[in-house]
Formats: sequence, structure tokens, C-alpha cells
Amino acid sequence: MHTQSSNNTQEITLVLGGTGKTGSRVAQRLQARGVSTRIGSRSATPAFDWGLPDTWEAALENVSAVYISYAPDLAIPGVTDTIRRFVDRAVARGVKRLVLLSGRGEQEAQACEQIVQSSDLEWTIVRASWFMQNFSEGEFQGMIQAGVITLPAADIPEPFIDVDDIADVAVAALTEAGHTHEVYEVTGPRLLTFTEAAREISAAAGREVRFMQIPKQDFNQAIADSGAPDDLIWLMNYLFETVLDGRNAHLADGVQRALGREPRDFTLFAQQIASEGRWTAADENVA
Ligand SMILES: NC(=O)c1ccc[n+]([C@@H]2O[C@H](COP(=O)([O-])OP(=O)(O)OC[C@H]3O[C@@H](n4cnc5c(N)ncnc54)[C@H](OP(=O)(O)O)[C@@H]3O)[C@@H](O)[C@H]2O)c1
Repeated sequence: MHTQSSNNTQEITLVLGGTGKTGSRVAQRLQARGVSTRIGSRSATPAFDWGLPDTWEAALENVSAVYISYAPDLAIPGVTDTIRRFVDRAVARGVKRLVLLSGRGEQEAQACEQIVQSSDLEWTIVRASWFMQNFSEGEFQGMIQAGVITLPAADIPEPFIDVDDIADVAVAALTEAGHTHEVYEVTGPRLLTFTEAAREISAAAGREVRFMQIPKQDFNQAIADSGAPDDLIWLMNYLFETVLDGRNAHLADGVQRALGREPRDFTLFAQQIASEGRWTAADENVA
């Protein structure tokens, strides 16, 4: 993505994870508003890598605000050390405002929130439920194309959120007054189990997509066979076993509080994705 000139004044907004599901949308919205924007990711120029703190300095040059979408996930043990170190560097480099994307019900993510909250910066936390786009841009898309969402998850209700809503909240917090020191817990407008989400996807795509709970060992074997590293396997198990246990099976009003409107419903999301042809059956793609 294009990096705009800063005229050497400290006015750039750094979007970490800026090529990902939320970050790309945040960056697009900022640029549409005429905000000087810099993408922070390993493929950006200058490159930013969470694992290589030396790369942080160039990315923080002339930056006044940062959107933090940590990869792969704030839930991973030990991430707090990285976030603490990054916040310290941001403060030292003159950053004024931080917006942190966090996850609901995750102990390590909440510890990261506290690090941001104890800084002297203008901070906003966007604590999100599971993304609807996990079904269209993330890990589950291939399963939907194959017709079965196979996960080691109980059929617990989750208020999936549209990442476009997350981006709208983040951009408001990055660019407007009135969002400082707010924790916006953002969810979609409705609880859906995986079975119900699969039904919505089936209706929109015009073909059957099922949810099937599979044993943890089978799931782990499948993701190991796909070449996933051990920490990703740990993360998936943590998310499905620990976080998706019903603790987040309730709605929150962060979108309404931040934006004064309702979040987008899963039905509209599903209709849009299906109309773009992104859920066609795997064998239809081979033609
Ligand atoms: N998925 C969910 O349902 C959900 C729910 C709540 C919260 N979250 C949070 O969302 C965050 C992930 O956001 P997302 O889904 O928008 O991202 P994403 O789509 O997974 O994309 C990851 C982004 O991070 C960059 N990246 C990957 N590894 C990196 C590294 N080592 N150093 C620097 N950048 C790196 C990637 O670009 P490059 O490849 O170019 O580096 C890309 O821009 C996580 O912190 C997670 O806790 C997710």
C-alpha cells in the first residue's frame, strides 16, 4: 500500500498488521480521510517485524498515532514483553495516541491492554469478538469451499463481528476526539453457534455447508499436516478449548458507543461474500 509523505512533521499514523484483515481496512479508511499512513508489516517498506525490535525504529519515524494489530495473536504467552517494549519505544519516539486491537476473554490479551492503559498516551482498546471474516479471508474459508467446517469446538454461541465495524471504530479512535481512555468491547448484533453460522452461509451460498465437531487429535493432525508451526497449533487449541467455552457468549455495545450505530449482521455479511463468489465449492474452482 502507498505510503504518503509526511513533510517531515510528526503526523504519520502507523498501521501495524496493515496488510491483514483489520489493518488493511484501517489503512484504507485513513487514506480516504487524507491521513498520512504507513503500513507496518514484514512485507512493508520499511519492514516492521515484531520479532526484530531493530525494525521498529524506522517504522516509528515521524509517527503520531499507532494502530496495533499484533500477529499472530495477543493471546500467546510472553507477548506482554514485546508489547511493553513497543509501547516504551513509541513513547520515546513521541507517539501521542495508541489504539490496540484485543480479544475477548484472553488472559494474555488483557495483560497487554493493561500495559497500554498504564502508559501516558491517549489510548483506546478495541476488544473484539471472533471475526466474521475468519469464514471468508481466514482459516475457515477452505473448509467452507469443501462444504464442512470441521473444528474441535463445541457448538457454543459467539457474537461474530464484521471487521469493517472494527475498522470504523479504530479509525474513529485514531482520528477523532472523545475516544481516549475507552475500552470498546465490540461484537456483532447477534449470537450464532457454528451450526447456525453454517446455515447462514448455506443460505447465502446456495449450497450446503455443515459444521462438524471433530476430536482435538484429528484437528491437530490436520493442521500439523498443513505445515502449521507448533505455536499456531497451540494457539488454535487455546482458542477452541479455553476461550470458546461460553465465556464470551454475550453481546457488547462497543460499536454502538463508539459510532452511534448498530454493528452489521451476519446475514448481510454472508450475502455479500457469497455474491462475490468467494464461497463457491472447491470443485467449481477447478473447472
Ligand atoms: N480472528 C479473530 O477472530 C480475532 C478476534 C479478536 C482479536 N483478534 C486479534 O486480531 C489480531 C490479528 O489481526 P488480523 O486478523 O487483522 O491480522 P491478519 O489478517 O492475521 O494479518 C496479520 C498481519 O500482521 C502482519 N504480520 C504477521 N506476522 C508479523 C510479524 N512477525 N511482524 C510484523 N507483522 C506481522 C501481516 O503482514 P506481513 O505478512 O506482511 O508481515 C498482516 O498484516 C491478533 O492480534 C488477534 O489477537 C482476532
